[in-house]
Amino acid sequence: MSLLEVRGLTVTYQAAHGAVPAVRGVDLRLGPGQTLGLAGESGCGKSTMALALLRLLPRGASLSGEILLDGEDVLTMRWGRLRAVRWAGASIVFQGAMHSLNALHRIGAQIAEPIVLHGLGSPREAALRARTLLEQVGLPAARADAFPHELSGGQRQRVMIAMALACEPQLIVADEPTTALDVMIQAQILRLLKQLVAEHGIGMMMISHDLAVLADTCDRLAVMYAGRIVEDGPAEEVFRSARHPYGRALAAAFPTIGDASSRRNPRGLAGDPPDPADLPSGCSFRPRCPVSVDACARVDPALWPAGPDRTAACIKVLDPAELDALLPESAPGAAAAAGRPAPE
Ligand SMILES: Nc1ncnc2c1ncn2[C@@H]1O[C@H](COP(=O)(O)OP(=O)(O)OP(=O)(O)O)[C@@H](O)[C@H]1O
Ligand SMILES: [Mg+2]
Repeated sequence: MSLLEVRGLTVTYQAAHGAVPAVRGVDLRLGPGQTLGLAGESGCGKSTMALALLRLLPRGASLSGEILLDGEDVLTMRWGRLRAVRWAGASIVFQGAMHSLNALHRIGAQIAEPIVLHGLGSPREAALRARTLLEQVGLPAARADAFPHELSGGQRQRVMIAMALACEPQLIVADEPTTALDVMIQAQILRLLKQLVAEHGIGMMMISHDLAVLADTCDRLAVMYAGRIVEDGPAEEVFRSARHPYGRALAAAFPTIGDASSRRNPRGLAGDPPDPADLPSGCSFRPRCPVSVDACARVDPALWPAGPDRTAACIKVLDPAELDALLPESAPGAAAAAGRPAPE
């Protein structure tokens, strides 16, 4: 059984100007000891997905679909059970979390708190475990007596990871765990997370807009655009040769190590992400897509097979007959006009 299985997840916020469909039908699977990277530009719904996994969304957000955590549906869980699952079953390292430590309490006490609250140890045992956890994340045990302001940003982020591990969860969701950190600390923290996942058989979902970081840290990579996953596959392959034009654009935005010309001219993507409340017809990436064709406006793409163990939501992975069958008022040969993907 998968540790995490998400089926048809939809999240809609109610904003002053109307409904905002932030997540629009996402399917995901994650097994023990596996790492899944979730990439996509700002506003595509990554944090919304992370928060939905533990029902941490603000009031007024409506959710549908299924989120099975070890076979149990988080969306229908009773409140008491849900509280037990948070931290102990699954925990989240929030985006910008290092700013959310309580300034008035020593960090050892903050790490120990969920251990005691979840009945996993006496206050004395929890305090000892907090010190062990600090060592696990590469900080001296004596830092347990420090206050948050006495630590650097990178050290505070490590404390957040120690907190996430405190109750030995099976699943960790890390939302941009290193975005605010310099590259050296970022590399250390990513190495640490990778090692903890491997040693403890934890499942990890790591969220970032940085495809290169995810390709380096994760087994699988899912690319999100406008509330949907548009590409999924083994991380290295998706990074090196994405099948979806958006995945390609995201990967191309990062300079290639050892290639000076790509460093001088990193290729960005023109245009802005679409307004979730006003999505275009057909493929939502169409207005920014460098290879879009007429048919893209008429077919709402699903995640179709795109090579071994890979999927992509782009009509260009279909063969002409498959595309013809999908086109409304299908005109024979319409698929030929849609063209095939440019060779890479
Ligand atoms: N509380 C809210 N009320 C209304 N709309 C919201 C709320 N929170 C987020 N949104 C909208 O939902 C969409 C997805 O936001 P989300 O925070 O999930 O994006 P993200 O992919 O995590 O972006 P980033 O990379 O900037 O963190 C955005 O369009 C955002 O404006
Ligand atoms: Mg976010």
